Amino acid sequence: MKPYLAIVASFGVLMARTLAVTVTVSKTASHSVPSTLFGQMFESGDGGLYAELLQNRAFQQVTPNTAAALNAWHPINNAKLTVIADSNPVSNALPNSLQFSVPSGASGPVGFSNEGFWGIKVDSSWTYNASFFFRFPTSSSFSGALTVGLQTNSGKVLAQSTTQIHGSTTRWTQVSVPLRPTASASDVNNNFFITIDGAAAAGQTINFAMFSLFPPTFKNRPNGMRVDIAETLVEMGPAFFRFPGGNNLLNTPFQGQTTATRWQWNATVGPLVDRPGRVGDWGYVNTDGLGLLEYLQFFEDAGMEPIMAVWAGYSLGGTSLPENQLAPYIQQAKDQINFVIGDPAQSAPAALRASLGHPEPFKLRFVEVGNEDFFAANTYTYRWTDFVSALQAEFPQIRFIATTDAWDPTLSPVPQSYDVHVYQTPTWFFQNAFYYDDFQRNGTTYFEGEYAAISTNANDIFGTPADGRLTFPTMQSASGEAAFMTGLERNSDIVFAASYAPLLQHVNSTQWTPDLISFDAGSVIKSTSFYAQKLFALNRGDQYLASTLPTRGGTLHWSVTRSSSSGQTFIKVANAGSSAESITFELTQFSSVSSTGTLQQLTGSETASNTPDAPETILPKTSSITTGKTFTFSAPAFSVNVITVTTH
Ligand SMILES: *[C@@H]1O[C@H](CO)[C@@H](O)[C@H](O)[C@H]1NC(C)=O
Ligand SMILES: *[C@@H]1O[C@H](CO)[C@@H](O)[C@H](O)[C@H]1NC(C)=O
Ligand SMILES: *[C@@H]1O[C@H](CO)[C@@H](O)[C@H](O)[C@H]1NC(C)=O
Ligand SMILES: *[C@@H]1O[C@H](CO)[C@@H](O)[C@H](O)[C@H]1NC(C)=O
Repeated sequence: MKPYLAIVASFGVLMARTLAVTVTVSKTASHSVPSTLFGQMFESGDGGLYAELLQNRAFQQVTPNTAAALNAWHPINNAKLTVIADSNPVSNALPNSLQFSVPSGASGPVGFSNEGFWGIKVDSSWTYNASFFFRFPTSSSFSGALTVGLQTNSGKVLAQSTTQIHGSTTRWTQVSVPLRPTASASDVNNNFFITIDGAAAAGQTINFAMFSLFPPTFKNRPNGMRVDIAETLVEMGPAFFRFPGGNNLLNTPFQGQTTATRWQWNATVGPLVDRPGRVGDWGYVNTDGLGLLEYLQFFEDAGMEPIMAVWAGYSLGGTSLPENQLAPYIQQAKDQINFVIGDPAQSAPAALRASLGHPEPFKLRFVEVGNEDFFAANTYTYRWTDFVSALQAEFPQIRFIATTDAWDPTLSPVPQSYDVHVYQTPTWFFQNAFYYDDFQRNGTTYFEGEYAAISTNANDIFGTPADGRLTFPTMQSASGEAAFMTGLERNSDIVFAASYAPLLQHVNSTQWTPDLISFDAGSVIKSTSFYAQKLFALNRGDQYLASTLPTRGGTLHWSVTRSSSSGQTFIKVANAGSSAESITFELTQFSSVSSTGTLQQLTGSETASNTPDAPETILPKTSSITTGKTFTFSAPAFSVNVITVTTH
């Protein structure tokens, strides 16, 4: 039924007033809703999801003898600090060391500190694991103690431990100490330090390498994930995790755009000292401490499945490998997949996985070939053919996803799935809620692998904040995205997965806004879009129930799904417009409909955001609502609503 529009003049202002829309809901499922529909897309975890607290912990990918190589490290009491190319490095992968010299005539504690990732959270209920390697470059008769600890930036010691060292230690030796703070810090303005008694150690030089400081981690995994961030991800109810990019899979424009700087799975597994790290696409060093195995372990712990990408011969700087040079990269992609799912008896990468403690294969059903290859669509034609024919032959059970968006007739074999990306305005999102309705139903499925309303200015969606670029998701952007997501549900016979992007930002070092989740060294901020995603993911249902269609291009959208096991029926209503809208739902085909339901509602003013200063401005509220076979619901302006009723 078309909404009836009445124009009411009131105090000289023209107000458009819509009478209640009537939505008739079918009791028969028109298609099933894939369990993978709502998930997350991710690029790199250093200083965020990966729980390591020290920044520049192993001097990876820095230029020795420069001030920049000392990023995040600071001398204490006139210590001399230099990052050197060590003639006898801790490992081939980590060629640089921190050379620390105590000036002659020194007194008091002399040493160095690490500022963390814009601070370090110190919690007295936690035990921190601190570790490092050291050696004396020249043997000496020195014997004394190193003090390792946590302190506030004004020098109040919160935790410390001492360890005896001897100048005869000229081979790399690892020290691991637990740190138990005697008090929590009131803020994150704290640092990690190592000192030595200056008078006793005057004139000594010691090399250090591969520092680490871990708080307790998600599910207590060694080398694991930051608890509050991991729990926030899990709270959203994601079904999948797209990794390791995104652009971060490709190589970096910051390092000469060579194939050599791409993400390589084998550089991210095994002992941390064997991981060289790389400058990721977003301009900072990835330690690769969050490597392929840590990712996979996290997905198991979090109940998600991977959508894994393989590098496919194209680098973001614009270089595509010629076809006759692809073979080793296709082999590396096979090895990467075998590391995840191969049989240890048949494949060396799988045997490596088994040796690292996970003999069972991980779950892997989807592999994405490249990222945003519409930037190199001409070469993707042969790259896709060569990669996919080889990979499909070895892994027929896997669905390979093309990344040229949904319109590339030149690809052979015909892609089973496409990854579609869109960054747009809130208006674009509600206007395009029918984006997939006209797609052919011919077996091709779609992954909305990156999407977000990022600017209110249609002419410059990639502009600066002055051009309407959002710094944090707003209620306007979240309700626009939610309108689009009702279309994803309606089209979930062909759309099998969707993920907002980007997922995470550290508020003190951000390359891109807005992000789904913001955090600093101590806290996590869940955005309006986060709550919209959560409302959809946790109320997914497994059956899509057809209903009267919303108006194409309008601001008011809905979709209805149902859990076949519980009979719970989820009516999602997104109002991306600036006035409240009434909808009468008719569930008359069902023999019974509960007389009360639950309403989960996210709403607020157009520009309202959750920010570091006001992280809980917009929270979903749950209330009870009168339902029945026919009921009317008023959706507030800029709102995302889920009404749950039981139907049989
Ligand atoms: C990090 O950002 C917060 C919020 O903007 C700010 O208050 C804080 O001073 C920043 N910290 C550092 C170390 O720059
Ligand atoms: C910290 O060290 C303890 C003792 O060695 C270990 O059991 C625990 O797994 C470690 N935690 C992390 C996060 O590495
Ligand atoms: C990873 O494997 C490739 C070959 O596929 C090799 O060229 C590269 O050196 C390896 N990297 C590491 C760090 O082992
Ligand atoms: C299905 O149709 C789309 C166009 O809507 C086309 O791009 C795709 O290749 C087709 N898939 C198959 C399997 O023919």
